[in-house]
Amino acid sequence: LLGTLGVLLLVYFISSTSFSSKGEGKEPPGPRPLPVLGNLLQLDLKRPFITLLKLSKKYGSVFTVYLGPQKVVVLAGYKTVKEALINYADEFGERDPIRIAQEDDQGNGVVWSNGDSWRDMRRFVLTNLRDFGMGKKACEDKIIEECGYLVEVFKGFNGEPFDTTQSVNYSVSNIICSIVYGSRFEYSDPKFTSMVDKANRRIELLGSPSIQMYNLFPWLGIFIGDRREILKINSSFKEENSAMFHHLKETLNPQMCRGLVDAFLVRKQSLEDSGNTNSNFHDENLMMTVKNLFVAGTETTATTIRWGLLLMAKYPKIQDRVQEEISTVIGSRQVQVEDRKSLPFTDAVIHETQRLANIVPMALAHRTSQDVTFQGFFIKKGTVVYPLLTSVLYDESEWEKPHSFHPAHFLDKDGKFVKRDAFMPFSAGRRICLGEGLARMELFIFFTTLLQRFRFTPAPGVSEDELDLTPRVGLSLNPSPHKLCAGTTVFIHLTSVLYDES
Ligand code: HEM
Repeated sequence: LLGTLGVLLLVYFISSTSFSSKGEGKEPPGPRPLPVLGNLLQLDLKRPFITLLKLSKKYGSVFTVYLGPQKVVVLAGYKTVKEALINYADEFGERDPIRIAQEDDQGNGVVWSNGDSWRDMRRFVLTNLRDFGMGKKACEDKIIEECGYLVEVFKGFNGEPFDTTQSVNYSVSNIICSIVYGSRFEYSDPKFTSMVDKANRRIELLGSPSIQMYNLFPWLGIFIGDRREILKINSSFKEENSAMFHHLKETLNPQMCRGLVDAFLVRKQSLEDSGNTNSNFHDENLMMTVKNLFVAGTETTATTIRWGLLLMAKYPKIQDRVQEEISTVIGSRQVQVEDRKSLPFTDAVIHETQRLANIVPMALAHRTSQDVTFQGFFIKKGTVVYPLLTSVLYDESEWEKPHSFHPAHFLDKDGKFVKRDAFMPFSAGRRICLGEGLARMELFIFFTTLLQRFRFTPAPGVSEDELDLTPRVGLSLNPSPHKLCAGTTVFIHLTSVLYDES
């Protein structure tokens, strides 16, 4: 038995050396994997992106790790990630669906799909985000309206410490509701709160260590309670949305689409009318696409807003400068998207928040669509690829102070806003975040309006230094649990004080 085991191990090690067996070229180097476990024991499983960043220092910007039995090629550093995702967009442009997603979407939707179905859904959503979302003034108005409700919720805490998570989530989810269904919900509506709470619970579970293990070792499935809970939430999401779609179908006016679901139903009907029975516009694709928008479009934006508020409480001098700028340029009127260019410091703070918060550190797993030789390394078709966004956002050759909160990264010597190519929190290339435009609009309106109305401070008894910036790792990097106080600001126009003739 020992002899057989020895031979098996030998075969395994030989097959995992750094040269491909067919002699196509050299494969990316990497730490030697153990049988079955691969390099899992070498990874900080809570924060794998940190270990991958360290490994990139040793093995270079293109290297291989084994997550259990799964071989992964990691791309690190701004130049390499950009080259792969932009110059080799087709080769690195497929998605590798994680196991838990495969159980639900069967190749549908946008996030986890590939091929024609992905292309059709991505194009459809982008057009509709333009029509019902980011492209129109109507969307800006929706964001402003929703932010107004959030301001009222914050006011309701009367300066007492509170956890910002739930209210910010409700607010951001409601924007997706407006875009998708064509209407928003009251925060007190139990149907809405239950839907958002369940969606958030699902996101929390998707990021749990047991689900990470299940994605690598699917045979663990029956033992994993978190997986059963996810499947239960999936069914209830489907049930609630089927009822919603049914209602929208019953009240549909094809001349006046209220939101993305209406537009989908109209397109589906017109394809059916023209005899196309094999299109990608079918019910499963609608369900998964809507679900993708809630999952991808809520937690990400809400988390970034919460990072922004936390950073303001931690760095009061930076908060002073933001509030001074808003007070001087905007005063107490409603902030508009077009104000962004007149608020360079505030804009720089928002960008720096996204850079440092680094909320999607490894993007979502990509996959090679064909054999490719990249930077001299041979990578086989179907290989899982992680574009390590952390390594771009913290790239030491691109950022002056990569590990500090330093808004000057986005300012020139005259205080004007400067774009930075290595600012890539939305990734790049074919699979770049589809909601980038919407997210940027939301971040600007929410952050600026909240800073215009409130002064954010730590809870009494907690010093600024004690506010912890260590992220809580889930599906994305969240702030660790904390409470903030939102005291109402008093507007003082500095100019009106300085030039006051009396
Ligand atoms: C994909 C970041 C907001 C919808 C992604 C990816 C990242 C990302 C890193 C993976 C890209 C890749 O695989 O290379 C963010 C951040 C956000 C945000 C940082 C907010 C601050 C949104 C919003 C929506 C959205 C508001 C929807 C309305 C999507 C979708 C994908 C995606 C559908 C999958 C795209 C595809 O596979 O073709 N996002 N996102 N995201 N995001 Fe976002």
